[in-house]
Amino acid sequence: MSESPVRSILMQCATRSGLAETPCALCGEGTFAERLAASPFLMAPMAGVSDAAYRLMARVGGAPLAYSEMVSVTGIHYHSQKTWELVLPHEVEPNIAVQLFGSDPEHFVEAVYNVTQAVGDKLALIDINMACPVPKVTKGGGGSALLDEPELAARIVRACVGATVVPVTVKIRRGRRMGEEVAPEFARYVADAGAQAVAVHGRYANQMYRGEADWDVVARVVQAVDVPVIGSGDVRGAEDAVRMLRECGCAAVMLARGTYGNPWVFGQAQHVLEGAAFVPPTANQRIEAFCEHVRLLEATGAHMARGRSLAGWYLRGLPRAAYWRGLATSCVTLEDYLSLVDRLRAEVACA
Ligand SMILES: Cc1cc2nc3c(=O)[nH]c(=O)nc-3n(C[C@H](O)[C@H](O)[C@H](O)COP(=O)(O)O)c2cc1C
Repeated sequence: MSESPVRSILMQCATRSGLAETPCALCGEGTFAERLAASPFLMAPMAGVSDAAYRLMARVGGAPLAYSEMVSVTGIHYHSQKTWELVLPHEVEPNIAVQLFGSDPEHFVEAVYNVTQAVGDKLALIDINMACPVPKVTKGGGGSALLDEPELAARIVRACVGATVVPVTVKIRRGRRMGEEVAPEFARYVADAGAQAVAVHGRYANQMYRGEADWDVVARVVQAVDVPVIGSGDVRGAEDAVRMLRECGCAAVMLARGTYGNPWVFGQAQHVLEGAAFVPPTANQRIEAFCEHVRLLEATGAHMARGRSLAGWYLRGLPRAAYWRGLATSCVTLEDYLSLVDRLRAEVACA
């Protein structure tokens, strides 16, 4: 049987990178904590960003694990097709972490059970979002609203742990309101309830993404719990990632906006951790990665408009970046992006 063009592109991408043969770094031997410590640079969940194409690029760039966008347990309860599209990994993805949000323990149990069944061996862990500050999520009592409800949060964790065979983890913020830090105590609650790791974003929920993330709170959570802690917030590159590991004593680090246009950051961080020098990507590598990424958008059925933000991210720092970004805003089809790439290649070759 001949391979479909979509599968062929994805397999080429996976094979070139060795991804197709990569065993799931977080599903092997040893305890979950040991495996996490051995593969500490994770691709963070990002709604509207961390789709299958983005996760594949991150994996090719060296991420041992990438998270889904956050997924509503209520959406799963109502069998929403759009929700399931967020959950299911692409066939060439070796594994995935699925992040769920909501506030109803019964919906969580149902969602965790169904996700475990549907994703099967590729499910590395289920993370519960107790961090999201967006009103659409907190109004329903989910995301960072749970930081005000430690008893309910613990009940949700206990319920989820009983419904799956994979580790259940929790992602939190420093607190809900500026100046009211709850993370260390809250982390103890959810760890006592069975969470196998806690990820901490060092901003208060009402800071949204403004201001600086406080890394000291990550260190305070490390002191407060016996389970591995995953640090998050203002990890802008490989050197930051290694610095956070060392300064905070956390087991792992999540990279979010620092991965924009920089899927190599995971491999770079691993190299820096091992004492190697930091080598930034060349202009050509950035252009080719952009090209690969837009091909993956099409191959995975994503909305091609996502390529416009990708252009801004991958082409940052190149000569006439603003001009190329401007051109990308009128790209609609894969062919539009590929012709932009051809012009870019020609300009960089002549530079
Ligand atoms: C566009 C965007 C979407 C995000 N979506 C999620 C999400 O779905 N779930 C989640 O737990 N965190 C989400 N986050 C938060 C990130 O995972 C991360 O904790 C945060 O951005 C701090 O890291 P940074 O300062 O390095 O970006 C999102 C962040 C951004 C920028």
